[in-house]
Amino acid sequence: MEPAALREEGVREVEEIVRRQDAWRLTRTINLIASENALSRRARALLGSDFNHRYAEGHPGARYYQGTEHIDAIEAKCREAIKEIFECRQAEIRTISGTNANDVVWCALAGHGAKVVANALPAGGHISHQPLGGLGKFTTDILHWPRLEDGFRVDVAKAKDLIVRERPKVVLFGRSLILFREPVAELAPVAREIGASVIYDGAHVLGLIGGKAFQDPLAEGAHVLMGSTHKTFPGPQRGVLLSNLDDEQWKKIDRVAFPGSLSNHHLMTLPPLLVTAYEFLAFGRDYARQVVANAKHLGRSLHQAGFAVAAADLGYTETHQVAVDVSAFGGGAPSSERLKNNDIICNRNQLPKDPPKKVGNPSGLRLGTQEMTRFGMKERDMADIARFVRRVLKEAKYVGDDVVAFRRRYQSVHYSFDNEAASPDEAPEPETE
Ligand SMILES: Cc1ncc(COP(=O)(O)O)c(C=O)c1O
Repeated sequence: MEPAALREEGVREVEEIVRRQDAWRLTRTINLIASENALSRRARALLGSDFNHRYAEGHPGARYYQGTEHIDAIEAKCREAIKEIFECRQAEIRTISGTNANDVVWCALAGHGAKVVANALPAGGHISHQPLGGLGKFTTDILHWPRLEDGFRVDVAKAKDLIVRERPKVVLFGRSLILFREPVAELAPVAREIGASVIYDGAHVLGLIGGKAFQDPLAEGAHVLMGSTHKTFPGPQRGVLLSNLDDEQWKKIDRVAFPGSLSNHHLMTLPPLLVTAYEFLAFGRDYARQVVANAKHLGRSLHQAGFAVAAADLGYTETHQVAVDVSAFGGGAPSSERLKNNDIICNRNQLPKDPPKKVGNPSGLRLGTQEMTRFGMKERDMADIARFVRRVLKEAKYVGDDVVAFRRRYQSVHYSFDNEAASPDEAPEPETE
């Protein structure tokens, strides 16, 4: 075979693998990965635009290259829509991931050698908040929030003492395993009193915050809220920084974002972000309320099915997440693999009782309801999911075919304008300018 023909075969293989991914993960599985979501069809259709080919450094109207008029229009509207959702004064929407947004904050507000208080890994803290992650590029002086007996919540009385005693430069809230609200309202005044910056990493819960189904960190006293735009906020993969700081104070964040941490910023994801923001302004509150109701119901149903669901005495969860101790089934690694073999996708997760280094096969599973909610599932479906999980883990049955048949009923993205759209076959010819 000629080398070019060989390479073309490679291209066909790429197309086939992507087709298989779409057919499997997008349409056949019950996806319970808590950090993922699905774009509406109309948002996804815009991902392949010419925006993918262009550069637009700086801000709309103040770029370094010509020809960015249409990009400027989308980016400016996007910033306004995000500010409207989160009811805040400032929004940096150019960061390309939650980790990138976090890096901007570490650089702008912490800096080298800063003392920071954050959540430990077994308490659900994210790797970017640890010495090994992004924050570790600036400081290793990282203290951990004291925890209540349940391991998931901050001990407020001890945390107040810690802030007064240690005088950190930054206090950091937010986690990857986040079941309950963080005590921002209780601790922000103490932190502000000693001049500390109050930061909330809302990567996971951004959509619940925007949908008013969870705490509002900025209203409770946080200086900056960061987040991913693709977890509970159901948009493309990007990051945001939100704040009510005044323009002068915000300049530092703005400059660290660009040129400090970015040049171009993955422009092809901007139009889908704006579409998602408009969907969210129309339907976000209903969506977020249903996500949390579903998570509570999933926790209850799994508990009734005999699983060791975390925080059962606290109502399981106030977010999109449910944590389950699956030590009795060999731990999180074999349990998540067995579920995957039945087309139920989730991830292993450390629980507070796990030693910090127990990462390969921790005790827990973390389940999130946001994506299946977006596909229209309600409380009764959570009871069905709990039954599937019981049959796989407790009864060692194969339920993959039943899972696929169940999921077939939930194929369109709700809380979107997909039903208003012309079908791709009827799409109008591209306009000429
Ligand atoms: C609390 C927290 N912060 C930051 C991130 C990183 O976000 P991204 O994957 O968008 O970089 C995550 C990812 O799951 C997270 O859980």
